[in-house]
Amino acid sequence: MLPLSSSDELIFFVNGRKVVEQKPDPEVSLLFYLRRVLRLTGTKFACGEGGCGACTVMVSRYNAMSKEIHHYPATACLVPVCSLHGAAVTTVEGVGSIRSRIHPVQERLAKCHGTQCGFCSPGMVMSIYTLLRNHPNPTPEQVTEALGGNLCRCTGYRPIVESGKTFCEPTACPAKGSGRCCLEQEEEEEPGSPHLREKMCTKLYDRDEFQPLDPSQEPIFPPELIRMAEDPSKRRLTFQGARTTWLAAVTLQDLLQLRADFPHAPLVMGNTTVGPDIKFKGEFYPVFISAAGLPELRLVNSEDGGVIVGAGHSLAQLSDALRSIVSEQPPEKTQTCRALLTALRTLAGAQIRSMATLGGHVATRATISDLNPILAAGKATIHLISKGERQIPLDSAFLEGSPEASLQPGEVVLSVSIPYSTQWQFVSGLRQAQRHENSMAIVNAGMSVQFEDGTSTIQDLQLFYGGVGPTVVSASRTCRQLVGRQWDDQTLGEACQGILGEVHLPPNAPGGQVQFRRTLLLSLLFKFYLSVRRGLSRLDPQKFPDIPEQFMSALEDFPIVTPQGIQMFQCVDPRQPLRDPVGHPVMHQSALKHATGEAVFVDDMPPLDRELSLAVVTSTRAHAKVTSIDTAEALALPGVVAVITAEDVPGKNNHQGEIFYAQSEVICVGQIVCTVAADTYAHAREAAKRVQIEYEDIEPRIVTVEQALEHNSFLSPERKIEQGNVEWAFKHVDQIIEGEVHVEGQEHFYMETQSILAIPGDEDKEMVLHLGTQFPTHVQEFVAAALNVPRSRIACHMRRAGGAFGGKVTKPALLAAVAAVAAHKTGHPIRFVLERGDDMLITAGRHPLLGRYKIGFMKSGLIKAADVQFYINGGCTPDESQLVLEFIVLKSENAYYIPNFRCRGRACKTNLPSNTAFRGFGFPQATVVVEAYMASVAAHCGLLPEEVREINMYKRTSQTAYKQTFNPEPLRRCWVECLEQSSFHARKQAAEDFNGCSYWKKRGLAAVPMKFTIGIPIAYYHQAAALVHIYLDGSVLLTHSGCELGQGLHTKMIQVASRELGIPTSYIHLSETSTVTVPNAVLTAGSMGTDVNGKAVQNACQTLMGRLQPVIRRNPRGTWEEWIKKAFEESISLSATGYFRGYQTNMDWDREQGDAFPYYVYGAACTEVEVDCLSGAHKLLRTDIFMDAAFSINPAVDIGQIEGAFVQGMGLYTTEELKYSPEGMLHSRGTNDYKIPTVSEIPEEFHVTLVHSRNPIAIYSSKGLGEAGMFLGSSVLFAIADAVAAARRERGLDRTFTLSSPASPEWIRMSCVDQFTDMIPWDDPSAFTPWATRVS
Ligand SMILES: Cc1cc2nc3c(=O)[nH]c(=O)nc-3n(C[C@H](O)[C@H](O)[C@H](O)COP(=O)(O)OP(=O)(O)OC[C@H]3O[C@@H](n4cnc5c(N)ncnc54)[C@H](O)[C@@H]3O)c2cc1C
Ligand code: FES
Ligand code: FES
Repeated sequence: MLPLSSSDELIFFVNGRKVVEQKPDPEVSLLFYLRRVLRLTGTKFACGEGGCGACTVMVSRYNAMSKEIHHYPATACLVPVCSLHGAAVTTVEGVGSIRSRIHPVQERLAKCHGTQCGFCSPGMVMSIYTLLRNHPNPTPEQVTEALGGNLCRCTGYRPIVESGKTFCEPTACPAKGSGRCCLEQEEEEEPGSPHLREKMCTKLYDRDEFQPLDPSQEPIFPPELIRMAEDPSKRRLTFQGARTTWLAAVTLQDLLQLRADFPHAPLVMGNTTVGPDIKFKGEFYPVFISAAGLPELRLVNSEDGGVIVGAGHSLAQLSDALRSIVSEQPPEKTQTCRALLTALRTLAGAQIRSMATLGGHVATRATISDLNPILAAGKATIHLISKGERQIPLDSAFLEGSPEASLQPGEVVLSVSIPYSTQWQFVSGLRQAQRHENSMAIVNAGMSVQFEDGTSTIQDLQLFYGGVGPTVVSASRTCRQLVGRQWDDQTLGEACQGILGEVHLPPNAPGGQVQFRRTLLLSLLFKFYLSVRRGLSRLDPQKFPDIPEQFMSALEDFPIVTPQGIQMFQCVDPRQPLRDPVGHPVMHQSALKHATGEAVFVDDMPPLDRELSLAVVTSTRAHAKVTSIDTAEALALPGVVAVITAEDVPGKNNHQGEIFYAQSEVICVGQIVCTVAADTYAHAREAAKRVQIEYEDIEPRIVTVEQALEHNSFLSPERKIEQGNVEWAFKHVDQIIEGEVHVEGQEHFYMETQSILAIPGDEDKEMVLHLGTQFPTHVQEFVAAALNVPRSRIACHMRRAGGAFGGKVTKPALLAAVAAVAAHKTGHPIRFVLERGDDMLITAGRHPLLGRYKIGFMKSGLIKAADVQFYINGGCTPDESQLVLEFIVLKSENAYYIPNFRCRGRACKTNLPSNTAFRGFGFPQATVVVEAYMASVAAHCGLLPEEVREINMYKRTSQTAYKQTFNPEPLRRCWVECLEQSSFHARKQAAEDFNGCSYWKKRGLAAVPMKFTIGIPIAYYHQAAALVHIYLDGSVLLTHSGCELGQGLHTKMIQVASRELGIPTSYIHLSETSTVTVPNAVLTAGSMGTDVNGKAVQNACQTLMGRLQPVIRRNPRGTWEEWIKKAFEESISLSATGYFRGYQTNMDWDREQGDAFPYYVYGAACTEVEVDCLSGAHKLLRTDIFMDAAFSINPAVDIGQIEGAFVQGMGLYTTEELKYSPEGMLHSRGTNDYKIPTVSEIPEEFHVTLVHSRNPIAIYSSKGLGEAGMFLGSSVLFAIADAVAAARRERGLDRTFTLSSPASPEWIRMSCVDQFTDMIPWDDPSAFTPWATRVS
């Protein structure tokens, strides 16, 4: 055992300052250390598993052998602080700050409008900064690659990439194919289109303002660390923590000794497997061994037979080594190396690739390893060392975990030998993941075939698959059987049958997607088969004919391309005064603070005296009686102060149907049963795991919409809108179709998880809360109800939220009540920050929807009758489900007039966590059903879906189905502009031509129109207030009722106040939203923030200006400061409230009519995609959006909202899949399982145009654009459907097929039915319980 008691000092540098930690704890991550110990809170926590990049820092190390300094990006959440001895860490604070000097990277991210909520921004800065430290003149591809491991939920990435690209050498016009060169459009231009009369601008920022990048100004590497690295008397280091010990070896011998002494201790290299295993799988290791930097693990030797790479190389260094080998050696020798290089480009993100090592990767033997199957196929060997040395093959025995072929306790992987391939050998790596990069493969493969020289006779075949079992598996029996056979179609057929017989994936396999995964086994093989035939033909074209031209497209995976685009908006009227900022692309008010990490989010607030952290214990059953809660073990743990249950709630535990702490019964998995308050979060979490809860299941357990319908389980009554005579019309149409569309839910995935600081007051039962919310009043109400005190005792402060998207409308109130009860019980301030997994589990998201339709139409495509029924999965409590449902019914006609129209909807009550508001509020789900029946009608009429859309679109001033009058003229303009400017028809023809020549890849185009409603059919929900103080120095403090969620609301409010008061924006300060300054504020949602608060701010400013008028009249040439001074001397009040009563909307559900919405936002989007029919991948080639912005108060903010919403919508409709077990448990609870778009998903070309119209009802004739772009993301879904339809047509399949959302790789692949899908055996659904079930 450990003879250890004392600890060495841990020495490293952070931002140039030396850190000497006397008591380093091996269980502490760098992220925790930065945030909690050093109080450097710019580095953010968002996932804790290396998957989001919010915690990116730069680590620099000196290599004593090469005398070089190596800078690399790392996710601080996975870096054990003990691993940093001798390293220099740079955080966003070290890059630059507003207080000292902002760095060009920070400045450009801010000025290019690359931040919205700002939570991801420090991570983005660090990724670009690290790239520039290594490559001061990067290529656009390097910028995109550097950002691949960073998630942003707000911006849609385009402006972030653009900020990075400003450091690249300017290239020729990148807007290839669009016909609109972006460089030529730096200046204002007047487009030829008759519809766009105003001068249009394209410049959202001014490059001339940027400071130049001067690499010589970067901080130097600390000389002390160089001395430490070169110190010949270095010795083993021991860091002794409370529960664990870290042993850092300095020589290979030392390492071997440690491995011998502690054979079960992990050898921590990149910690990208060990770290997540500890955190998420509950592994515990009393001892860690570290060997970072040992020169013996860092060698690269190129020998005659191949290359030997030291196990200590990071995957990024492995890429560099392989690249240099590929450039030196002839192509036939480097097939394995090139296959590895391709796999490395998409393996995780740049940070993980820089941390993870080759040895760690190989030794882990993960089933989804991207490298091991290729290494095995390429016949790599592993060099092991312990007391002796040995080589073992990296083969099926090793990968499948056979004990005799595995590492023995104490052994270390010293290096991996990768043999060169030969002329008659072919090696490939193939994979399919949910998204292009930073996503583990669903199935991957490494394949190799060796032919007898000069022939296509198989001498040796190796097929390895990952993702189809607990380990990487080999189809070795099939491979053996095929030796001696020719590489032809017959062999391929036998190989397919052999693999299906050999690689068994049970129907209930964890991970689900069983049919898809089985199909991928064959699809990937087929791709390999074709590439080998191609290779043979290149070797000897006479003997081996090439593959058919039509099949070529199967060979190439979609490249990751640097996105680009043009943003067009109306120029400001030249007559507008220069100092008036309205209409200008003003930078986000907090952008520089975001980029420097100085913007304070709730969890960045310093710890308070006696503060406790809160961890949750949630239900593991969907519907059960709670028979006992045993807290004894939890309470006995160190640091634990209290376990809080329903019994501790002094007031109401059930407020408006929302339950704070479950009492006798749980109604979903993830319901909060109790919380644990402790001195640290680690203690609270540990104790939470020890709370024992006994349950007794209750029937029925309802998880899906279908089950809810069976049990008649609803949250509220049906809502209906009807016009015309539907039944009569069905009798007088040419054709009737019926169909069903499923749209699954969506996780908000705001980057800042729900975070609350609840501070009990010393007097009068007061409670102060700091939190990120869209609805402080609601929080106040719920906390007051839980504590049984008047609302006046509860103060909610909201400075900013790190994204919200509807997820912070109602849920913060529930969580704040939970925290407030804990604060009340303990008397301590409570910090309650949900971990990503808990946040996803507890707070739920967008409602899954089932739509059923019956449509009657004429041969011309004119729809005469529609009967549509919607069901949403509301979950277990009311939340906002009824309102969402009402919106669905009202909005679901979208842009179409159907004279005989009936639409009904119901919100189902199920035992899932309660779904809630989400950007678009039901519209993005419901309109998929509408556009699906448009496409289906088109297919039946032999028309394009766009033609049917056009035929049925509103064309003149009309009444909606609920009898609200509106003028659709801007809709027509957006639609016509969109089709024209995107060259829809020409590109549609080109896509068809492409499809005719390409069997396995198909292109699809879709254009969708949109009529989006703004606001809420309840008038009092539109009221808003503002409070404006002018101080005697002329500075202004502005407060209003809206919340800053990243959408730029405060920025626009400052613009409004600046115009109204006639002063520069720099005079105006806007700090926070609070129930103390503006009471009874309504929620910030429904795209109404600027509309209603803008009017209130305007009102307050106009009141003040009215009061100042006499002073100004008397001294018209005076300055603002003089007027204010004078006004004060004349006892004129310099503080005013402003108020906006709201739009007078109404809805009478009994009469099925009303003026439900103040106005509509119109838009249209055209998208082109290419799909890979074999793998199910898709690539977004181009999107053109035309959005009716009326007059944009801030084009940069509005375009940012449109692009961000579009990309979020695209995620909803393509990559984002929530997986629930049939028992109602959410499987997908983190970045590993849930895939929001990354930078590589966005359109290669992304053009946005703001279309000008009038909207006199709103402030400055503007329109609310926060949500509308979301639905336009469905153009991607319909473009994919168009491409899939092309594939199906060619294969002679049904022209109509069932569309569902998301169009994931699984959906795409399984819809492109072919000989491979036909080979897959289907399982009898009654004979097994699937791993996951659809809940819509
Ligand atoms: C966010 C994220 C995304 C990822 N995406 C992908 C992906 O897309 N594709 C993919 O293939 N992988 C992916 N991975 C997995 C990643 O490749 C592995 O975690 C990584 O390669 C492990 O290397 P490491 O140095 O971090 O190992 P560690 O975590 O440090 O160690 C892992 C194990 O290996 C052992 N070990 C380490 N080095 C040696 C050695 N030299 N000799 C003997 N034993 C050793 C340790 O004892 C330990 O048990 C991802 C990981 C993360 C966190
Ligand atoms: S918090 Fe570290 S990568 Fe997400
Ligand atoms: S700005 Fe990127 S997550 Fe909000």
